Order: sequence, then structure tokens, then C-alpha cells
Amino acid sequence: MAFYSPPFIEPEVRSQIDRLVQERNAVILSHYYCRPEIHEVAHFVGDSLGLSQEAARNPAKVIVFCGVHFMAETASILCPDKTVLLANIDAGCPMADMVASEDLAQRKKEIPGVPVLTYVNSPAAVKALSDICCTSANVVAVLRSLASKQVLMTPDKNLAIYAQKLVPEKEVLLWPGFCPTHHRLNLKEVEQLKRDNPDAVVVAHPECQPKILKLADVISSTSGLIKHCSESPKKKFIILTEQGVLHPLKKKNPNKTFLTPASEMICPNMKKVSLQNIIDALQTMTPVIEVAEEIRIPALKAVERMMAVPRD
Ligand code: 13P
Ligand code: SF4
Repeated sequence: MAFYSPPFIEPEVRSQIDRLVQERNAVILSHYYCRPEIHEVAHFVGDSLGLSQEAARNPAKVIVFCGVHFMAETASILCPDKTVLLANIDAGCPMADMVASEDLAQRKKEIPGVPVLTYVNSPAAVKALSDICCTSANVVAVLRSLASKQVLMTPDKNLAIYAQKLVPEKEVLLWPGFCPTHHRLNLKEVEQLKRDNPDAVVVAHPECQPKILKLADVISSTSGLIKHCSESPKKKFIILTEQGVLHPLKKKNPNKTFLTPASEMICPNMKKVSLQNIIDALQTMTPVIEVAEEIRIPALKAVERMMAVPRD
């Protein structure tokens, strides 16, 4: 059984956040990988695609982004008229740092005419050089939507290998990036967990390595995994993704069991965001994430092309 215990939030902290939100006409957006207390004060909790969509449609003038840098950048690309605050400026994404615009520009010269499909976990300047973006929730539909047989996918090689398997008619060229949190999942540990729990459904995020994904019954984005476990009649699940998902899973499914590998899968950057960061951001209206227009306009084209592709 999944014990759900709500995170404790000091009443004064909660009322201070509520008051500042009102004063600033703000909305708080959080990725699922942030801490449970951040989910509890956020107005919307989602995966990368859901957060981009919410940033674009929410009428609030100020967005406090609880997540990592590229997520706030994507919100700023989509909503230049809003003030986008990144709750913790030190929250970066090591995978996004594995692709630099200069290196992509060089690679594009080597493969003229090949479209570039870039995971949103990337810098704005890389999106600006890309034909289209994707998230883990729409990667297959986006790859299928492209006319060209050859496609360069950046920066996540694991996501690219996963998508290539599902779209064999394409020839996917890889970029050597990966998510350190998902990448370090230990094969022997997962095999043992499966042996010990033959009745459990194994659900995994496509940022995991191919040898791990081979063991999964269900592969999906963060919101897809939560939806699957919540709607499934099955009672036991092995969760192969960042452990932030355990909070919504246990909250929604108190009668189900969620097992995780012994070596914890925690994204240290997502965990940097604190309640105090949210208060500070709303009080000081910093740090603002803005993308220069010469990068924002071409990056917006790549993000909008992605948003126009229907979700699987
Ligand atoms: P999604 O939010 O697309 O599931 O991706 C997970 C992730 O690693 C975000 O940084
Ligand atoms: Fe980046 Fe991985 Fe953390 Fe997501 S989980 S923010 S891809 S390091």
C-alpha cells in the first residue's frame, strides 16, 4: 500500500505565498520532479509539455517557474509579454548543457538538409537552430510528422533510440546527450526488483537507457506514467523515473503499491527549489528569465511547430 502523508507547510508560509500571488497577479507552475511541498502550493503541476501549454494559456502576468532553467526559458519564448521568474536560478539541467549552439551549427553543416528535432531539455539558442522541438510526451508523433527520412535528434540519445524503435521508417541520427539521473539506473537492481515482484507492472521514462527500457511494460512521459498507473486496474508498480512522481502517485492511488530501485533516482536540480525561493522570487520579482528576440523568434517557431502536432 502507498502511504500518503501530505507535506507539512507552515501556515504563515502558505498565507505569505497566497498574498504575494494575489498582489503580483502570479501563477506558480511546478514540474512533477520538484519537492512535494512545491506541488502543494503550485497552481499547476505537470510534465514539460503540460507546463509549456499552461504557461501559454494562463492569463496571469507573472509566472513563477518551479523547475529547471530550460523550462522557464520555454515559458519566456512562448509568453514574451509575461514576466517569467525561475524560482531558483541555480536549477539547471545537465542534459540541456550537453548541446551547445556552436556545436549544433557545425553538425548541421555536415548534414545539409537534414531536419533537427530538439528535445525541449535544451538551451533556447539550440531550439533557435532546430526545425522542431519535442517533449517525451509527443516525441513519436513529432518524429512521424516530419517529411524527411533522416532526422537529427538532440540532445538525448536515449529518447532518440526509443523514438527510432517506434518509428522505424525514419533514420534517426543521434546526439551524445543523456539525463544523468535516468542514465545511472542500475540494470541488476531493476532485474532483481522485477524477480522479487513478478506481479508488478514496470513503468519507465524514455530518458532511461535502452537496456532498462527493454525491461519495461509501459514507457511514457511523466504525466503519461502517472495517468497509466492511476487508471490501471493493477495494484503494484515498479517506477523507473525521477522520484518526484511518487507524491502525485501516492496521493491519487492510496490503495496501490509503488516500488523504486534502491539507488534513488533524484534530480538534484529539481530538488533545489524551495518554498523560500518562491517567496523571494515574488517579493523581489527576480530572477527574470528572458530570451533575446533574435533567438526567441526562431526558437518560438520550433516550439510552435511542436505544439501544433497532436499529442499521441
Ligand atoms: P517530461 O517532463 O517530458 O516527462 O521529462 C522529464 C524530465 O526529465 C524533465 O526534465
Ligand atoms: Fe535534466 Fe534529467 Fe533533471 Fe530532467 S531529470 S532536469 S533531464 S537532469
